[in-house]
Amino acid sequence: MMREDLDRILITKERIAERVKSLAAEIKKDFGDEDLIMVCILRGSCYFFADLTKELDNFVTLEFMSVTSYGSGTTSSGEVRIINDISCPIEGKNVIVVEDIIDTGFTLSYLKRILTERRPKALKICALLDKPSRRETSIDGDYVGFVIPNEFVVGYGLDYAQKYRNIPEIGILKKDVYSK
Ligand code: PRP
Repeated sequence: MMREDLDRILITKERIAERVKSLAAEIKKDFGDEDLIMVCILRGSCYFFADLTKELDNFVTLEFMSVTSYGSGTTSSGEVRIINDISCPIEGKNVIVVEDIIDTGFTLSYLKRILTERRPKALKICALLDKPSRRETSIDGDYVGFVIPNEFVVGYGLDYAQKYRNIPEIGILKKDVYSK
């Protein structure tokens, strides 16, 4: 039913799983056996966060944060606000922020700024998807799963109007679904 709204699958379950494993290996290469605080930015990164953290054998503290960006429709104003903050101090700790997608970059620019003020030992950004063609800030991910074209993608946590998050693949939404 839900799937009928997809134009096509962009990234299969298998490719996601394989890439998640290699991202974990990249993180492991940088941090070795050090402890990590990994921060899930709700809600889009929930599945990616769950799968990625399970690929690491470090001691990982799981933290959750929700933010909202103002701006109507598809245009973001660049104003971001914290709805729920993480629950622990990060001073002197290794922190990895886990996002589903970097689009304009406003969300991560804001998060990077406020988390840096808390003086972590290291602060890295891990994003499953990157749409560089939409970027309006100079932020880049330290670990990026897939660079994708400017298509409306849903699934594996990504939504349109809160729907389609629970599709296990990443698909391109049919244009008539969001232009109705
Ligand atoms: C999406 C996504 C990122 C942000 C990226 O979140 O999860 O957090 O937008 O866009 P940006 O680079 O233009 O800032 P959204 O606000 O849709 O919330 P969600 O994760 O709950 O879907």
